[in-house]
Amino acid sequence: MSDTVRVFLFGKKYEVPAGLTIMAAMEYAGYQLVRGCGCRNGFCGACATIYRVEGDRELRACLACQKTVEDKMYVATLPFFPLIKELYEMEETKPTEGVMMQLYPEIYKCVGCNACTKVCSQELRVMQYVAYAQRAEYEKCAEESFDCVMCGICSSRCPAGISHPQVGELARRLTGKYLRPQSPHLKDRVDEILGGVFDKEIDAFMTQPVEKLKDLYNNREIEK
Ligand code: FES
Repeated sequence: MSDTVRVFLFGKKYEVPAGLTIMAAMEYAGYQLVRGCGCRNGFCGACATIYRVEGDRELRACLACQKTVEDKMYVATLPFFPLIKELYEMEETKPTEGVMMQLYPEIYKCVGCNACTKVCSQELRVMQYVAYAQRAEYEKCAEESFDCVMCGICSSRCPAGISHPQVGELARRLTGKYLRPQSPHLKDRVDEILGGVFDKEIDAFMTQPVEKLKDLYNNREIEK
């Protein structure tokens, strides 16, 4: 078995070590990733990528930091996908039946093709969460879309021009603000932060070297 694979990054051929992620392969090939790269761990959604492997007719999508290169893979990253992102004030935006129609009317043009679900980099049931949004079932929409990383790949395949990640985000905001019980502890903690209770600790953190911060993070106490 060969230790290298041939990949085509934006149409240009490179030979890279097998086993690299697409993101690592790009860096190996000399790309400096300024956009299209964030957490490197599959959480931030910044590295949406489309690709085809020679011999496979399907156009596939993935996160570049998660997907391993394959031989004869043709790759183009999508550092930004132009979603429709409405501006709204949460204080004035209520979980009414009409709020989606007002802000994201495209969702009612869904043709049920399920392309969004098939292509989702997180394997979410995207069409289902949009269906919940259509029916003003915001808690269900919030639950179903919870792991969305906002990469926008679903929207890139949608014939109705729906911006699914933004729809899910609105549903989660409505759910958090109006539909789920309030957490008194959260309010207390925010008041403490605003009141400067943790200022000294935060200042001490800010002067620590990165390695020490990583160590503290990796060994932090995690609530069960
Ligand atoms: S860099 Fe954050 S998901 Fe890939």
